[in-house]
Amino acid sequence: MRAAVSSIFASDAGPAGVHVRRATANDLDAIVALEDAAFQGDRISRRQWRHHLESLGAGVLRAIHGRRVVGALLLLFRRGARSGRLYSLAVASGQRGRGIGERLLRAAERAARRRGVGAVTLEVRCDNGAAQRLYERLGYQRCGMRAAYYEDGADALRYRKSLG
Ligand SMILES: CC(C)(COP(=O)(O)OP(=O)(O)OC[C@H]1O[C@@H](n2cnc3c(N)ncnc32)[C@H](O)[C@@H]1OP(=O)(O)O)[C@@H](O)C(=O)NCCC(=O)NCCS
Repeated sequence: MRAAVSSIFASDAGPAGVHVRRATANDLDAIVALEDAAFQGDRISRRQWRHHLESLGAGVLRAIHGRRVVGALLLLFRRGARSGRLYSLAVASGQRGRGIGERLLRAAERAARRRGVGAVTLEVRCDNGAAQRLYERLGYQRCGMRAAYYEDGADALRYRKSLG
């Protein structure tokens, strides 16, 4: 069972020397550090990351450049749900704007398709223009809003992409 899940996150090497693969427990420290640096609040705890790394209901992807983890993504699959939920996406600040976020997102979509999931949904802060541009460029469509969704009271925009 575990092997089958690993195989849906098959490796993905790209021109920029960045590789996207399924994360393992060995990546825990790096992913926690990356997330802590990327988000001011609403962080996923170390304990939650450890749980997601071991869970069949979650896909954790990481992008590496050399030996360094430069990006991470968490996709949640609820049992019986027809859509996967993008719960976290972060790229190291010095590496942004190079297409790493896009690579992670496309890899997550492939994983969702292989798992038979028909759509991906996500929430993004209203004031996060870079992330919204990325999602819209990849075909995500706005489908709603959640008022005061974040710890600091910021609203969330909801997006959805059908994987067709
Ligand atoms: C959102 C995020 C994951 C995007 O990752 P990325 O690797 O920069 O993504 P890409 O390079 O594929 O594209 C992102 C877009 O933001 C732009 N961008 C973001 N940061 C940039 C930077 N520091 N320099 C240049 N461009 C940047 C890109 O040019 C691109 O916009 P475009 O469509 O107009 O070309 C990254 O900015 C990040 O980690 N932000 C902090 C955490 C976060 O907000 N996560 C999303 C939560 S919903």
